[in-house]
Amino acid sequence: MSVVRQLRQVDADAAGVDIAFRADVHAGLSQAQKAVPARWFYDATGSALFEDITALPEYYPTRSETDLLKRHAGDMAAAIGPGRAVVELGSGSSSKTPLLLDAIAPAAYVPVDISGDFLRDSADALAARFPGLAIYPVEADFTQRVALPREICPLPKLGFFPGSTIGNMVARTSVDLLRNWRETLGDGALLLIGVDRIKDVATLELAYDDPAGVTAAFNLNLLTRINRELGGTIPVDNFEHKAVWDDVHARIEMHLVAACAMEFIVDGRAYHMAKGETIHSENSHKYGPRDANLLLRAGGWTPLATWDDADPAFALILAQATEFRSAP
Ligand code: AVI
Repeated sequence: MSVVRQLRQVDADAAGVDIAFRADVHAGLSQAQKAVPARWFYDATGSALFEDITALPEYYPTRSETDLLKRHAGDMAAAIGPGRAVVELGSGSSSKTPLLLDAIAPAAYVPVDISGDFLRDSADALAARFPGLAIYPVEADFTQRVALPREICPLPKLGFFPGSTIGNMVARTSVDLLRNWRETLGDGALLLIGVDRIKDVATLELAYDDPAGVTAAFNLNLLTRINRELGGTIPVDNFEHKAVWDDVHARIEMHLVAACAMEFIVDGRAYHMAKGETIHSENSHKYGPRDANLLLRAGGWTPLATWDDADPAFALILAQATEFRSAP
């Protein structure tokens, strides 16, 4: 058994454009502080650029998390046990997945990702590496409700949410997502989640503004995507990448800064930007140990174990689906 079939759960219009993308771009460009949700970074080019980011020396999260997976795979396997269906949220290239699958002897693997082509390629690569494993790729936005393949219903589940992608959501959205996935994965489920830690500002800002300009290209590609998919006339060359630490919200903010005043059209609608005005394109929240545990509890998950001795600091937390109790 290998790749079984790819399920698609995306609402596209006649031109193949994701309906939610169009709605998010118009809503976001109409706000006083313009903003486009970070999930729209990941077209084929954006997904490939993100892979390049993960190999940058300045972008420590991938290195730190991989290091934790390698060093603590035995302990993680002992805590998780064999025979689970591993459901990976936002699987991308699934580059860390073999480390986990090698360690825990799963019964099935379900990668969930919004980038269909990327999903197909990485599922094929994993099938070649794990020929005995049933793989059920699901092309879907994991921030929305996702229907899991019926074949894995009877199996105990492990949600795998690496990369600190939870940090790209504001607290309320994170809690909604954790609660949704607690319901989807069901009673008895476990969740192994990657969370980036708060650290010195220089390390954080360099990780999101590398000297080679890969993160800048990743950020600017969002505008290129809007132009291509939504008939936009945004002058991409007139924007600059900015990444800055916001200590109040404990997050890196990425913005696209207008280098001059401009008018442009998206999908037939006119927009204006003043010089210096920005489109807020991403938040990357960082969490201390107590913050991360509180977030998980609010989302219906009880932390069981934390592995966080990487340098630069990063955490992998194993949590268990919590039974709801409102009183002590
Ligand atoms: C996917 N996500 C966890 C990355 C992050 O670190 O917030 C996205 C990213 N943005 C710029 N560099 C990487």
